Amino acid sequence: MAIKNFISINDFTSNEIFNILVPASREWVPIIRGRKLMPEDHSKKVVMLFFEPSTRTKSSYWEAARFLGWEREIVSSEEASSLAKKESIANTARMYALYNTDVLVIRTKIEGAQKFAAEILEREGYEVSVQNAGDGTNQHPTQTLLDLLTIDVKIGRFDDLTIGFWGDLNFARTVHSMLNALSHRRNIKIVLVSPKETSLQLQYKKKFSDVVEGDSLELLAPCDIVYGSRFQLERHGSDMVTLNREMKKFQLNSKALGYLKKDGVIILHPLPYDFEISPEIRKDKRVIVDDQAWCGVPTRTNCLSMGYENKGRKAFGNLREKCEMEVVRSIGLDEYLEERHQKKIDKRYFYPITNGTVIDHIPRGLAPKIRSYLYGRFSGQGVKHIIEDVPSQKQIFKDVLVFEDMFLDEGTTKAILSFAPTITLNIIKDGKFEKLRLSNPAIIEGIGVCPNTNCITNKDPEAKPKFIGREEGPECFYCEKQFTREEVLI
Ligand code: NCD
Repeated sequence: MAIKNFISINDFTSNEIFNILVPASREWVPIIRGRKLMPEDHSKKVVMLFFEPSTRTKSSYWEAARFLGWEREIVSSEEASSLAKKESIANTARMYALYNTDVLVIRTKIEGAQKFAAEILEREGYEVSVQNAGDGTNQHPTQTLLDLLTIDVKIGRFDDLTIGFWGDLNFARTVHSMLNALSHRRNIKIVLVSPKETSLQLQYKKKFSDVVEGDSLELLAPCDIVYGSRFQLERHGSDMVTLNREMKKFQLNSKALGYLKKDGVIILHPLPYDFEISPEIRKDKRVIVDDQAWCGVPTRTNCLSMGYENKGRKAFGNLREKCEMEVVRSIGLDEYLEERHQKKIDKRYFYPITNGTVIDHIPRGLAPKIRSYLYGRFSGQGVKHIIEDVPSQKQIFKDVLVFEDMFLDEGTTKAILSFAPTITLNIIKDGKFEKLRLSNPAIIEGIGVCPNTNCITNKDPEAKPKFIGREEGPECFYCEKQFTREEVLI
């Protein structure tokens, strides 16, 4: 199977996660249990860059590489590398790629750093698999794969499940990755238990139709799987006093265990746990966190070998090329001019052009930003009219940009159309009027800034903002957070 990088669970299809990756990890279980190491192979090398603390992820990757007989190197802190001298993660990755690394495992505080590094290495012709061992609050895909392997072994199904999450649902990346994977399955009921300070973001909740949310562990009663997460104090900004007080109420102890099913429930936790699991229940048969942590070895053995096999492939296709322009209307120029003439409202705002481009149905307030983006690209030529606050049937008010005798290149057109699904492009040329729309969301570059201060695009000047134009609003290509159009246009 052609999987090269392990950066985000969102990069995989449902088929890849559940029919390829989990079964492939499972095949390694008896082999790893047999403890017969594979012959040493010094031609293969994994480098593990852990710029945040780690016990399980780091040592299970190490164990997986030892099992495979590979060369391995660990950098366990920023201080142990030139990151302490302000070298960027991308430049660090370049160096390891230069020194014949086949698989680069990276854990960072910065969100999207792994995706950016992988993109650069691929563009520059290095053959390296990049594996994300956790990027800030965003993703931890290999943890999800090992969590799913545990569920596969212990429960044997991924559909028709009630799954409860408790603890820090706002900042725990393991929860985010897991929810993304589960969103592919049928009849999944989600129960979310947390203080409101650490409740789950809407972008994850809205992937499920059946969600119960509250601040009592009693809500976990019907669950088949209960998944805990540590309060990520290192990621919280202010108000630690409230959080410290609130989080004490979320301990799974003997009393809370009494709410859960006696049999038919498993309690998972990516570890480390703080007080959210009381020591008195550590050895309860429902708490299977040791088995879960062990699943890290077969899972990561699979990630290393699959990554190695596919390190020479291309993982970053150009999303812009994949999205097609669709002609939704095509009429003669005379007919078009007659139509404009009839339209009383529009007539008050602008005169029709007979050659050029009209960007129509722009969400109100966005046109000046789009115009300045275009000025940047076309050094100011051609923008004839910017028309704001036009009454519109579809949008109440809209903005319109009119470019007389000017036509945009395809890349620019796609970036603009991706910015909001309402936007249409009218091309008036050679006696014809054509209205165009995009068939798929595309990549938006050169317009907007990611508001997440922890995103790689705000940490490394080499990383430029890039968004996927979703219907709900732009999603950062790197840190995967979703925003409104207004939020990114600052
Ligand atoms: C988690 C992580 O680093 O995201 N641990 C892990 O990898 N098993 C959980 C945490 O830090 O709380």
